Amino acid sequence: MQIFGVDIGGTGIKGAPVDLERGDLAQERHKVPTPHPATPDGVAGCVVEVVRHFGWDGPLGVTFPGVVTGGVTRTAANMDPSWIDVDTASLLSRALDGQPVTVLNDADAAGVAEMTYGAGRGRDGTVILLTLGTGIGSALFTGGRLVPNSELGHLELKGHDAEKRASFKAKEDGDLTWERWAHRLGKYMAHVEMLFSPDLFILGGGVSRKPEKFLPLIEGVRAEIVPAKLQNNAGIVGAGMAAKASSSKGGGA
Ligand code: BGC
Repeated sequence: MQIFGVDIGGTGIKGAPVDLERGDLAQERHKVPTPHPATPDGVAGCVVEVVRHFGWDGPLGVTFPGVVTGGVTRTAANMDPSWIDVDTASLLSRALDGQPVTVLNDADAAGVAEMTYGAGRGRDGTVILLTLGTGIGSALFTGGRLVPNSELGHLELKGHDAEKRASFKAKEDGDLTWERWAHRLGKYMAHVEMLFSPDLFILGGGVSRKPEKFLPLIEGVRAEIVPAKLQNNAGIVGAGMAAKASSSKGGGA
């Protein structure tokens, strides 16, 4: 079965039809640059462009880099503040002439995709996926079930928002060596471990394509640590999975 997924990010809005049997994109994804300022109306126009590019007219899932409850975007740490408290599912559905839209947090989407098709497949205990990009996203699972909107990237680390110190952007902005960054990441992950005692950490985001550069350098974490497998497409696949789950329940959200 095919469904459609869109991933809204700070730099690009990407989407593709998703093949749910294989847990992969059914066609090469289409990407448009995120407009600046990245306001709800501007971004909605880009989502329409991506969906229309494929002539898709069924239900779709859309990820957003912030807290999402009942289709409403509640925070926007790295997006325009005008997203806060917007009924994004309805806004996008209206822009798409009534196509049902399910909206969920970007890391949660990547997490459900990894748990079903990737590095978390068959893992039952407590699993935490962390996406290391502009911010730090998190997806928390226990017994394979997601606790949505865990937002562990905003834990406090040395008096700072953790993502400001340990995201991949923090490495680039601060020109940190892999060793220095891995040291910070280890401190951050040890803090997360103290709170949740996960059995497994899955590290995602673009940097997870080069795990050999930093994964062996992470110290002070007892849990197993593995790189994500679906990498760049996990968000789109997870968005598609969420759309399928809501359409089986009879609607978007
Ligand atoms: C947001 C999260 C998001 C993460 C990755 C954080 O700043 O608060 O909701 O998952 O960035 O995009």
